[in-house]
Amino acid sequence: MSRVRIAPSLLAADVARLGEEVRAVERAGADWLHLDIMDGHFVPNISFGPGLVKGLRAHCALPFDVHLMIAPADPYLAAFAEAGARVISLHPEAGPHLHRSLQSIRALGCQAGVVLNPATPVSAVEHVLDLVDLILVMTVNPGFGGQSFLASQLPKIAALRRMIAASGREIALEVDGGVTAETAPACIAAGADVLVAGTAVFGAPDYAAAIVALRGGG
Ligand code: DX5
Ligand code: ZN
Repeated sequence: MSRVRIAPSLLAADVARLGEEVRAVERAGADWLHLDIMDGHFVPNISFGPGLVKGLRAHCALPFDVHLMIAPADPYLAAFAEAGARVISLHPEAGPHLHRSLQSIRALGCQAGVVLNPATPVSAVEHVLDLVDLILVMTVNPGFGGQSFLASQLPKIAALRRMIAASGREIALEVDGGVTAETAPACIAAGADVLVAGTAVFGAPDYAAAIVALRGGG
């Protein structure tokens, strides 16, 4: 497998210096920038919207990995595509027609992702694999950064890796929540190839060292 990609989550950045923060993680070797969109309804927290995503686009060249924690999501897909998202991921619980939502994301020219909450089974994505470029496994309940990693999700990561391999498709397998240098190796061993990290990068004194540590120190 190719080198694991690291996607720092902007949620843990210094909100008063966002432009500087995204430039800093890009310089530090991040692969993607993870952007958590929360509506205070689907999850009990509010973050930011497409305007801010668009504003940051000029500050770095990293692919923007947009994680929608909003319901409904469909009315906002075009705005995030126009804001410069490379990947747009949504939760199956955000609307009644996941298949249609994934089609919409691809029609907008973006890669499409499905996010599985801790209680959401692997089967939620099984029958839409042909429309999926990325599967994101939540290892915390979505809504807040800085929570503890749920090791109960490791078998799910492994099951998804097997499902992806059996499909023969190019689908990225991403993990989000409580990922640190301590928990990353178990995620990678289970088959993850993209790691989201908020606190473990933006809360660290040296972003480059933090990213190297998340990759396993290599
Ligand atoms: C939680 C978000 C995460 C969050 C991760 O709802 O989806 O992306 O920023 O933060 P850490 O890495 O601090 O758990
Ligand atoms: Zn996220």
